[in-house]
Amino acid sequence: MIVAFLFIFIGCLWSFKRSSRTRMLSTLVLNAHQLHEFATRVLQKSRGTLEFKGPWFAKMDFIITSDPMNVHYISSKNFSNYPKGPDLRMILEPFGDGVFAADGNLWKMQRKMIHSVMKHNKFESALEKTIYQKLENGLIPVLDHASEVGIKVDLQDVFQRFTFDNICMSVLGIDPNYLSFEFPQVAYANAFNATEQAVFIATLCQRV
Ligand SMILES: *[C@@H]1O[C@H](CO)[C@@H](O)[C@H](O)[C@H]1NC(C)=O
Ligand SMILES: *[C@@H]1O[C@H](CO)[C@@H](O)[C@H](O)[C@H]1NC(C)=O
Repeated sequence: MIVAFLFIFIGCLWSFKRSSRTRMLSTLVLNAHQLHEFATRVLQKSRGTLEFKGPWFAKMDFIITSDPMNVHYISSKNFSNYPKGPDLRMILEPFGDGVFAADGNLWKMQRKMIHSVMKHNKFESALEKTIYQKLENGLIPVLDHASEVGIKVDLQDVFQRFTFDNICMSVLGIDPNYLSFEFPQVAYANAFNATEQAVFIATLCQRV
């Protein structure tokens, strides 16, 4: 996969000025290491919705949107018109038949179940309490400690840990204390991180 990726990368550099389609793909590949920042800039420039056209051989045409109205329409109002399809299911395979990868009735059933939990007012107050506690007993003490001792921390890592603890507490009812002074390694947090990276790379390489 990496060889294929490099091949396309070199191919794109070679043909950089040849067509706007190739240029779009090469710009994407060149910015893969800072995709969030890149996507934010590009989406801002195109007022929230962008049509991406890859080179003809890569079959990489897609639309990317951050407009809440579009997201709502696609993911909820007219979902059956936007099936994820077998390609995306293959990429999201590590997530099994969960709501991210499912289509059709399976998706509908899971969405209904999750929705009924989330819209329950007890869920909202429990979530608020969980996040507040983690903020008070985790995030603030860790940042205070780092500032007192004068150590550098990677804020992305800190907030990833903060989010992970909150999700575990809200969904599983346990606190893995991934966010603590020692910045511990937690096997399933690492596994989840590795899965995310793999899905991301698979998304980029899928057509290549
Ligand atoms: C969903 O999309 C289909 C196909 O474009 C369209 O015919 C239908 O009216 C849409 N439904 C809603 C609720 O917008
Ligand atoms: C997740 O993985 C990436 C890439 O391997 C790494 O840079 C990052 O520090 C990891 N994050 C955590 C919280 O382990």
